[in-house]
Amino acid sequence: MKLFITGGAGFIGANFILYWMKNHPDDEIINFDKLTYAGNLENLHEVERSPQYHFVKGDIRRPEEVSAAMDGADIVVHFAAESHVDRSIMNPADFVETNVGGTQVLLDCALKQKVKRFHHVSTDEVFGALALESTTKFNEDTPYYPHSPYSASKAGSDHLVRAYADTFGLPITVTNCSNNFGPYQFPEKLIPLAITNLLEDKKIPVYGDGLYVRDWLYVEDHCRAIELVLQNGKIGETYCVGGLKDGKGDINNLEVAKKILTLVGKDESYLEYVKDRPGHDRRYAIDWSKIKRELGWEPFYDFDEWLEKTVAWYKDHQDWWSAVKNGSYLAYYEKQYGK
Ligand code: NAD
Ligand code: DAU
Repeated sequence: MKLFITGGAGFIGANFILYWMKNHPDDEIINFDKLTYAGNLENLHEVERSPQYHFVKGDIRRPEEVSAAMDGADIVVHFAAESHVDRSIMNPADFVETNVGGTQVLLDCALKQKVKRFHHVSTDEVFGALALESTTKFNEDTPYYPHSPYSASKAGSDHLVRAYADTFGLPITVTNCSNNFGPYQFPEKLIPLAITNLLEDKKIPVYGDGLYVRDWLYVEDHCRAIELVLQNGKIGETYCVGGLKDGKGDINNLEVAKKILTLVGKDESYLEYVKDRPGHDRRYAIDWSKIKRELGWEPFYDFDEWLEKTVAWYKDHQDWWSAVKNGSYLAYYEKQYGK
């Protein structure tokens, strides 16, 4: 089988390629990626010499590039996106162009090439925010109510994917998942930023009161969920994927930061309260009972175990993240957090 992966040099895409090639060694992978600031081929050094793996540098917004590279693909797994909420507040246009425009180009091409399945990787942020004091969770029937340019652009892409299924019969599946963490995550997102800052003896920037809640999903659990959807998920269906095991309560950002302080061996003087994100969603939580019931998926371990593994990975891969934190990232960091 030939898989056309978009955004495979980014965090989740690279983890997915490594996971897939380990578990499906006979399949062929085309990694189609523009290599924006978030794309890093270092993430794939383990597989780059494999005859089953091919990298194509290209832009999902360009039909001719997409069409040449997608030729002969059986399955498209679409990860490529502008993915960071704070950057979407600084520059919404990039998000609309890539996340909406780029997705539409891919859908057209997948239709022409009659792929067997177009799998779209989306986010729980399209559903908006839940109240802090509530125990409600997002599920597949939750109405869309995005608040940031990022989530609005992902919502637009989800609607287009379903429109291509309804209008043209494109065989699609969609996953809406919560916040991923794990190896190779660009250190602009909370967990890798917190860990690497502490390892550099810098503080963790905490937005607002720190009482915002996310539903943390280890990236390998996410990759396994996508694998199950590709293998057994029903065409046309959406599956919500969350990381918190049954019966576990909410974990807010301050609690996440304090757990990381403990794992790195620092005290609370390394927390720095900074200005809040505009339009900051208070709480996310996912009801993942559908994917459990229909496909037998659930997260392997709980948050504390995966967090410990993740901190250990960043401690062992200082070369990887130091290189990533140099260069253009510094200009972004200064703009976002000041000097
Ligand atoms: P990322 O920012 O780490 O990687 C994005 C990748 O897409 C990069 O390799 C980048 O070079 C590539 N890309 C960007 N624009 C492109 C273009 N025009 N053409 C080709 N390639 C392009 O993102 P991620 O965290 O790995 O997220 C992957 C997907 O999962 C995204 O669609 C995101 O919305 C979704 N998602 C992410 C999370 C999360 O917590 N990280 C949670 C839910 C959903
Ligand atoms: O929910 C899924 C989404 O999770 C994905 O769709 C996005 O691509 C991904 O970036 C992520 O979005 P968030 O905005 O939730 O992730 P981020 O790591 O940026 O922030 C997590 C929480 O931590 C959020 O409440 C904001 C807060 N935060 C973040 C940063 C970067 C801080 O307090 N300080 C920070 O420096």
